[in-house]
Amino acid sequence: MNRLEEIKQNVIKCTKCELCKTRTNSVPGKGNFQSEVIFIGEAPGRNEDKNAEPFVGAAGKKLSAALELADVRREDVYITNIVKCRPPNNRVPNTLERDTCKEYLKEEITIIKPKIICVLGNTAFNSLLGGSEITKYRGKLVKKGNQLYFLTIHPAATIYNQELISTLNNDIKKLFSLIRELKNNNIVSVDIEYTS
Ligand code: URA
Ligand code: SF4
Repeated sequence: MNRLEEIKQNVIKCTKCELCKTRTNSVPGKGNFQSEVIFIGEAPGRNEDKNAEPFVGAAGKKLSAALELADVRREDVYITNIVKCRPPNNRVPNTLERDTCKEYLKEEITIIKPKIICVLGNTAFNSLLGGSEITKYRGKLVKKGNQLYFLTIHPAATIYNQELISTLNNDIKKLFSLIRELKNNNIVSVDIEYTS
């Protein structure tokens, strides 16, 4: 069994936090282990809980559409969440749940070694970088340690706000143009550098 498959099996049977009691299915990350980018959302919603796959509901459609516009196939990237089980009524996962689930995400990142981590929305921004107010920081490239992060809005935010669709789509295009630059060993300019 490869290491990602091992994580997947551990997530499927995980009972480390309270969310295991209310979930239908755990939702492990999914995609290409050779991806240059990992997309990180908040937590599974109703459809994801039912299908055991990340971003397969309405928000997932928005993400898929943005990828398509950037000429990227969904199966070529890797998509996961901060917590792998659905919080009741889609509430925001709390600090204990996020901390408990963090180990899986760390392992996913270690195995895939993405050139850029794409942070989708405030929960991922807060969990990964301690940030808030994603609408203010979206579109920016962040460096923390040796890892680059690209910040954008959560695809769910575009469901009831048509204006944000082009924001998301343009950000995803920018993300892949940054990845192309990195692959060509060109210098990309970092907008924010975390010192600690
Ligand atoms: N929202 C998320 O943050 N993640 C999913 O997988 C689906 C919706
Ligand atoms: Fe385990 Fe994470 Fe699910 Fe909690 S959310 S039960 S830590 S997989």
